[in-house]
Amino acid sequence: MKKIAVLTSGGDAPGMNAAVRAVVRKAMYHDVEVYGVYNGYEGLMEGNIKKMELGSVGDIIQRGGTILYSARSEEFKTDDGQYKAIEQMKEFGIEGLIVIGGDGSFRGAAKLTEKGFPCIGVPGTIDNDIPGTDYTIGFDTALNTIVNAVDKIRDTATSHERTYVIEVMGRDAGDLALWAGLANGAESVIIPEQTESFESVVAKLKRGQERGKKHSIIILAEGVGSGVEYGKKIEEETKMDTRVTVLGHIQRGGSPSGYDRVLASRLGAKGVDLLLENIGGKMVGVENNMVVYSDILEILNTKHNVNMNMYKLANQLSI
Ligand code: F6P
Repeated sequence: MKKIAVLTSGGDAPGMNAAVRAVVRKAMYHDVEVYGVYNGYEGLMEGNIKKMELGSVGDIIQRGGTILYSARSEEFKTDDGQYKAIEQMKEFGIEGLIVIGGDGSFRGAAKLTEKGFPCIGVPGTIDNDIPGTDYTIGFDTALNTIVNAVDKIRDTATSHERTYVIEVMGRDAGDLALWAGLANGAESVIIPEQTESFESVVAKLKRGQERGKKHSIIILAEGVGSGVEYGKKIEEETKMDTRVTVLGHIQRGGSPSGYDRVLASRLGAKGVDLLLENIGGKMVGVENNMVVYSDILEILNTKHNVNMNMYKLANQLSI
């Protein structure tokens, strides 16, 4: 391949820029031209494609968000949309595409590969909900954003002797909530994969109160439901002064952590290596600190699991 393209798609994640940089620099290192596609698949269908230079990705490794912008596209889900995208790439002479995003984005990459256009997926989402990789780009940064926020909330929770329900992102996955729960020493972690019964959460809060505990932190994954509703129920049931914080999109922003920058660099570069070997239809990932790759279709047909041993541990440490 002599010309490849890169796009970011779906919810942005800190470290996406570092991945774009790695793709551009690794390709140029091998004398391959790289094109940046702006606005995800939407931009791909419209031909919003520009040639990248070494300098196009200078000074971005430390920046959150994505310099290529991101979008979610309905039209691209259709065959017509996909053929339109392939036509645009052919006009530029592009022979392979790297898609940085989550599972929705990989569905598109699989469709293009099926239609004869090789694509490689690079997992970029704060949710850490993609099989075939231990970590997705952005997860570590988002986790640290949550940890810092919860530390601050704990200060005021202690001062006012309150119970806090903190709703975190993760879509249908509980990874962010679980890891934050462990890292913040939360009293309870409520995740979609294993919802601790409401009664047991209440019983634990009451036990804590009887022991003289002054405040409690409950971390609730958004996939379980509304933190506001959950907080109301807790207050009604326990009569404890309860507040709710929905952390929201703050979790998606900010400068990527060192870990995310390194992960993004390794995965972006591996994506280029695969395309240059004429391999498409794969997703790169990291397992046991080794860069690996697997079939995108297999990834899409596999259910993501949280680490249940960690869930048990979180419960054991919060007795
Ligand atoms: O997938 C990333 C994510 O931030 C999820 O955690 C969340 O459910 C969703 O995107 C929010 O999407 P939007 O930014 O479109 O509201």
